[in-house]
Amino acid sequence: MAVERVLSGMRPTGNLHLGHYHGVLKNWLKLQHEQECLFFVADWHALTTHYDTPHVIEENVWEMVIDWLAAGVDPASATIFIQSRVPEHAELHTLLSMITPLGWLERVPTYKDQQEKLSSKDLSTYGFLGYPLLQSADILIYRATQVPVGEDQVPHIEFTREIARRFNHIYGREPGYEEKAEAAIKKLGGKRGMLYDELRTRYQESGDEEALLSAQAMIEEHQGLSLGDRERLLGYLEGGGKMILVEPEAKLTPASRMPGLDGQKMSKSYNNTISLREDPDTISKKIRTMPTDPARVRRTDPGEPTKCPVYQLHEVYSDDNTRDWVQQGCRGASIGCIECKQPVIDAVLVELKPIQERAAEYAADPTLVKNIVADGCEKARKMARETMRDVREAMGLGYN
Ligand code: TRP
Ligand code: SF4
Repeated sequence: MAVERVLSGMRPTGNLHLGHYHGVLKNWLKLQHEQECLFFVADWHALTTHYDTPHVIEENVWEMVIDWLAAGVDPASATIFIQSRVPEHAELHTLLSMITPLGWLERVPTYKDQQEKLSSKDLSTYGFLGYPLLQSADILIYRATQVPVGEDQVPHIEFTREIARRFNHIYGREPGYEEKAEAAIKKLGGKRGMLYDELRTRYQESGDEEALLSAQAMIEEHQGLSLGDRERLLGYLEGGGKMILVEPEAKLTPASRMPGLDGQKMSKSYNNTISLREDPDTISKKIRTMPTDPARVRRTDPGEPTKCPVYQLHEVYSDDNTRDWVQQGCRGASIGCIECKQPVIDAVLVELKPIQERAAEYAADPTLVKNIVADGCEKARKMARETMRDVREAMGLGYN
């Protein structure tokens, strides 16, 4: 099986909160032990929407790295870096822009959606229109195969695949590629040539992996093919010519909708978050003042957990026993809401304690954090340079 390379990024626009932890970071922590992983701070992407508040970015880059490390992202397993420290991303973005139809960018659903949602900002900029293409450059420059993202980012990954395909289509072929491949098929001989055609069609039309494998085996075994023809026939099986850029796949984060303090999804824009480094007293207070089932006005009024945001947190944090205790106690008015909230408070504090301790250690040692990132940037840059060499050459910029 092909080796996977995982890449994901986050925009440094604010504190990380429990929504990020349950929705994204826990997934990263798991992946870093299973596959080669690269995680980066997308500071240029943050500028597309925060170009007029540069201090937001400055304040949040290192804080975000500290949050990652504190949550358990392990620099020994994953490469952690900052986008703007690998300027090759910008070079690839420029080169890809040469082949990117404007209509493709205008049609990405997040373009109009976000412009409408963030209507207080002027997002009719070149940078904002190019957001998905910059993201494509981030991904393609590492030849990443898997991109863990939320549902909202799927169109960007789809867009990236289309860009990679277009690039390979335009630049991955030698002149006369198709004719040369067809001539090579003739050299296989009548029967084998027909079999090749049939297997190639089966693979290309229905993704039949077995057909691909048999065709590859047939070519490997066939004596008397020149090296060039062998390469051509292998490449032609899978579609175009040379694969210079790799089409990535979106790896959807397992649906985990972390409820916020008001029962809506936890999100900075709803002002319903608990941040990873919030102090314990504030956390307790925030949960103690959470709204509950509005029908429970007095302590003696029975309530309904399914109508209560606190119960949603029990679903994240409590075991069956505690949930039974809540259901019976709430419906029978035998427990009070403050009492009901205590196990949630305890669980959040227990979860955050080791994270906050580690965060304090990293925050006290900025040199360590900077060294981790410098290391990561260097590793990332090495990979990025390799891809850029191929891209430049393919685009006629390989002269020296
Ligand atoms: N657009 C992503 C987000 O808002 C952040 C991002 C930038 C990203 N570049 C990326 C994610 C590359 C994955 C891969 O969440
Ligand atoms: Fe919500 Fe618990 Fe109060 Fe019931 S007892 S309304 S579940 S906080």
